Amino acid sequence: MSGPPDYSCIMAERILLCLCHMSGREMDFINEAFADNWVVPLGPNVTGFEKDLEKFFFGNDKPHRIVALSAGTAAIHLALVALGVGHGDEVMVQSFTFSASANPVTYVGATPVFVDSEPDTWNMDPELLDRAIADRVAKTGKLPKAIIPVYLYGMPAKISEILKVAEKWGIPVIEDSAEAFGSKYKGQYCGTFGRFGIQSFNGNKMITTSGGGALICPDEATARLVTSYATQSREPAPWYQHERVGFNYRLSNISAGIGRGQMTIADSHLAHHRHVQQLYRELLSDIPGIILHDNPGPDFDSNFWLCAITFTPDLTVSGDDGCGRPEALRRALEKENIETRHLWKPMHLQPFFRDCPAYVNGVSEDLFSRGLCLPAGPWVKEPEIERILSAIRNAVSTR
Ligand SMILES: Cc1ncc(COP(=O)(O)O)c(C=O)c1O
Repeated sequence: MSGPPDYSCIMAERILLCLCHMSGREMDFINEAFADNWVVPLGPNVTGFEKDLEKFFFGNDKPHRIVALSAGTAAIHLALVALGVGHGDEVMVQSFTFSASANPVTYVGATPVFVDSEPDTWNMDPELLDRAIADRVAKTGKLPKAIIPVYLYGMPAKISEILKVAEKWGIPVIEDSAEAFGSKYKGQYCGTFGRFGIQSFNGNKMITTSGGGALICPDEATARLVTSYATQSREPAPWYQHERVGFNYRLSNISAGIGRGQMTIADSHLAHHRHVQQLYRELLSDIPGIILHDNPGPDFDSNFWLCAITFTPDLTVSGDDGCGRPEALRRALEKENIETRHLWKPMHLQPFFRDCPAYVNGVSEDLFSRGLCLPAGPWVKEPEIERILSAIRNAVSTR
């Protein structure tokens, strides 16, 4: 039998946005699972991974519990289920995000109400949120059932202000921290402020389980409820007994083995992403017209999962034949075998969500029209950044 495919020649050339990186310990945990025949969606790696996550987020102080799940999307879905969100309800969701923040709202039959961002963090605008809730109450006579702010590209939202609005109205917060593993706001990890926090361990995230996620729950009883929902709501009976709807959302013991290996290098991944941002900070400063999205103040400590840039009005990009500057730069870098990505297209502009109420202020539409995400993963080092910057330099100019 031939060995695993050798991708080294491709990887040497192509610079990917955020490619996963193994510690070397992952196979030990996977081999243990095979040796013990724990090739199922529960087992010692799942429990071990949950404990590792709890230690990472809460140290020894843990009223919270963390449940490992098959995806970050599943975590949002189960948070909504656990909060009793259902048909006819509304949920306030950040508009500037990946669709997975909003899709689960539709799974439970509720309607996402989109809220635009503020320009400092690019995340949910607390003042607009407050006005939007007031308007929903006036229009529907009902309070929205949850608020889902997002930490875009790892950047902490103004979560204290969002929580103040949430407390004023008595609405629980589900923090979509899928992109913000290890980011902190005022010294506290993102994902640990609200009623629930979600994490994603998808292949391109800060740490990966190939595919997976986790739900940070406020206490043991809630974690038990969520675990039950994630395992088809099977009741403790000798036969298969079900008293409410269930889902098949538990993380596999094999994937959790990858997660345990990844936790051994989570801190070095975080340090590396911050180092990459520092390099961009230094080297982008001599390209006029390009602004690096950065921590807006000392309270914010992004993991810089992806490094994002925006363009000033006087910047032109060669090859902009009407496709827009972000697309022209994406194409120019693609020609150099460098992967970049448009900023998320706001949910209120997505055809699927066209009928959902939206409270907009122009911020996310403006950012979408003049920004791009640059590569930032563990494989991006000084030579790759030099290559990226030289490709950008060749493609842009200021009038
Ligand atoms: C903001 C955001 N929310 C939710 C998700 C969903 O996570 P998953 O892919 O693990 O389902 C992702 C990433 O994929 C994301 O970027």
